[in-house]
Parts: sequence; C-alpha cells; structure tokens
Amino acid sequence: MKREIKTTGDGSKTLYISELNESYHSQHGALQEARHVFINNGFILINDYEINILELGFGTGLNVFVTLDEFLKTDNNHVVHYYTLEKYPVSAAEISELGYDSLFPDQKMKGLFEKIHAAEWEKPVEITPGFHLTKLQCDFFDLEDMELPPVNLVYFDCFGARVQPDLWEERLFSMVAQKTAAGGLLTTYASKGSVRRILQKLNFEVQKKQGPPGKREMINAWKMKDDY
Ligand SMILES: C[S@@+](CC[C@H](N)C(=O)[O-])C[C@H]1O[C@@H](n2cnc3c(N)ncnc32)[C@H](O)[C@@H]1O
Repeated sequence: MKREIKTTGDGSKTLYISELNESYHSQHGALQEARHVFINNGFILINDYEINILELGFGTGLNVFVTLDEFLKTDNNHVVHYYTLEKYPVSAAEISELGYDSLFPDQKMKGLFEKIHAAEWEKPVEITPGFHLTKLQCDFFDLEDMELPPVNLVYFDCFGARVQPDLWEERLFSMVAQKTAAGGLLTTYASKGSVRRILQKLNFEVQKKQGPPGKREMINAWKMKDDY
C-alpha cells in the first residue's frame, strides 16, 4: 500500500497510508507520542539491569531511536536487548525523508540512527556498547514459535483495531503474554475496554494512564506472577 510522509503536530514527521486512513504515529506529534507511551510510561519504569524489549512493529524505527536516546542519558545503567518485529519494512528513501536523524542535536545520534537502519535483519547487532538490536522480518503471529529470552518490556505498537482488528484480540496478546516475564510491563497507546479485559484474563494488572496529547487514556499492563 502506498505511504505518504506527513508532518505531525510537534513538527516531527510520520508515514500515512491513505487507503486505510491510518498513520504510523499520532497526528498530534509522532515524537511526543513515542516518548510518552514508550519511554515515560515504559522504558524508565523498568528497574532490571538487563532489559529485554519486544516491539510489535519496527516501522520507522522511531521507538528504537527514542529508547536508545534514553539509554544513553541513563549513563548505560542497563544492558538492552531490543527485539523488533516487522512484516513490511519501510524503504531507505522513506527513512531519509522522515528526517528523524535530525530530531536530536547530537551528531553521535545521527550515526547511531544510520546504524539502526543499516542493521541486518535476523541478526543481533550492537548499536552502541550495551544496546543490542535484533530486527526480525516476520508476521506478529510468528511469535508463537519464536525463541526469545523472557521479555521485561513490550512495546505494543500495532496499527489500530479499526484497521487490523485481529491484532487486538486474545490470540496475539496470549502469545505476547507467554513471552513476558513475571513483573514485565506491556505498554500501548490504546485504551480499548476489550483489550483491558483480555490483558486481565491473561494475568496482567492493567492501569489506565493519561494518554499522549490528543488521546485521553492509554494502557500499562504489568504481568503478575503465575499463582501456582
Ligand atoms: C503503528 S506502526 C509501528 C510504528 C513504529 N513502532 C515506529 O516507531 O515507527 C505498525 C507497524 O506494524 C507493521 N505490521 C502490520 N501488520 C503486521 C503483521 N501482521 N506482522 C508484522 N508487522 C506488521 C506495519 O508495517 C507497521 O510498520
């Protein structure tokens, strides 16, 4: 499907699929949404030294980039293993047009951004000491047979239920839950009641959080210990 570049409310750009009327990020601000949902209500809440992150949709790589930025700010207090799944990779021309490499003034970040996109698929690559990225080109439902270490943090960043309802049903959440460590956090921009109920059924403690600008609520869900 054809993708176009759009500028969002905070000046950062996103990709938009007109056939679906769906964009990769919030029209109110791609960068501010990524920071709010995945960093302030995600990465910074995890205290483990070693953090295994699972992302459902690599897309433009913006979430990897903001996570890397936060990782560098925390003086490498963690070792990160970031696994990101994507079925329809974005082209190099689109990545260049999005201009994310100029979102951070630091020259070093430009080089790291290039490294994120140059990283070979299916192979772990150390982007900077302590930050390992594995990009996997596959369908989200391939998770079922995937070997992953217990995941401490899930970035559930699929397109909305209006366009891909099957990604917001129990089957996929159940696969994600099986990969998530007890005490792990799933964060998503969505707040649908059906999603909250599915996550509760799968043994997550669900919290409604304030959404990013333009969205009233979002979800944080903490995986509880199995009670047996
Ligand atoms: C909301 S976008 C992700 C945005 C991304 N996190 C970013 O920072 O740019 C959703 C992504 O899911 C991908 N996708 C859609 N259906 C998929 C499927 N069945 N399996 C794997 N990836 C899929 C899309 O190609 C798109 O890149």
